[in-house]
Amino acid sequence: MPTALSVNLNKVALLRNERDLTYPSVTRAARTCIEAGADGITAHPRPDERHIRRSDVYDLADMLEVEFNIEGNPTSDFMSLVESVRPAQCTLVPDSPEQRTSDHGWDVQSDAERLKPVVAQLKRLNIRVSLFMDPDPQAMEAVAALGADRVELYTEPYANAFGTDDHEATLDSYVKTAEAAQQVGLTVNAGHDLTAANLPPFVAAVPGVKEVSIGHALIADALWDGLAATVRRYKAALG
Ligand code: PXP
Repeated sequence: MPTALSVNLNKVALLRNERDLTYPSVTRAARTCIEAGADGITAHPRPDERHIRRSDVYDLADMLEVEFNIEGNPTSDFMSLVESVRPAQCTLVPDSPEQRTSDHGWDVQSDAERLKPVVAQLKRLNIRVSLFMDPDPQAMEAVAALGADRVELYTEPYANAFGTDDHEATLDSYVKTAEAAQQVGLTVNAGHDLTAANLPPFVAAVPGVKEVSIGHALIADALWDGLAATVRRYKAALG
């Protein structure tokens, strides 16, 4: 089974929000991605709505026939949005409002008390739960104990090490984490700073990556090649 591609549309919303206009349209982008073969769409609403707005989440939920993945920090606002939209998957991310982008995974020891009821609430709603995690094999057992279904491995460290002397050692930490995750029954997703160049060696080396979510590089490539052609290229990179 090739790794599924979920396209993160935050950057389309960011461009739209530069003006009081309705374009580029996030739903049109979603439609183009799906027609080009994307397996899912990801949105990461943040409290200040600097890119994806709550209204985008509702609009996407209304039109999507592919898997919808909503990412974010499980504040009460976020949880009520997720509860009303009921996406297929919710990826919980420990980003603070002022953070430019996600830059670390959960600390499952210190965050366990907060996460446990949140994971249970999402499971009651039949929403698949994924936790954004650094590549740390030791943490996987605690993630499974929280009741999550998946981990999303935070791939910025891999992207930074790509093609450097640290490449092999860094990639190996993801291989070990994916193995540890699967041993305790977790499915593995991955995302952050994945590109058409660094994606193929990642999915070739890391066993069983079920889904990658990609935004920044894919939308940047689309400026040159067009969105549909870029989605097809990333799909091809996944084999
Ligand atoms: N996964 C998470 C949890 C994220 O926060 C982001 C960025 O919003 C991504 C994946 C996608 O990262 P990128 O935009 O670098 O592809």
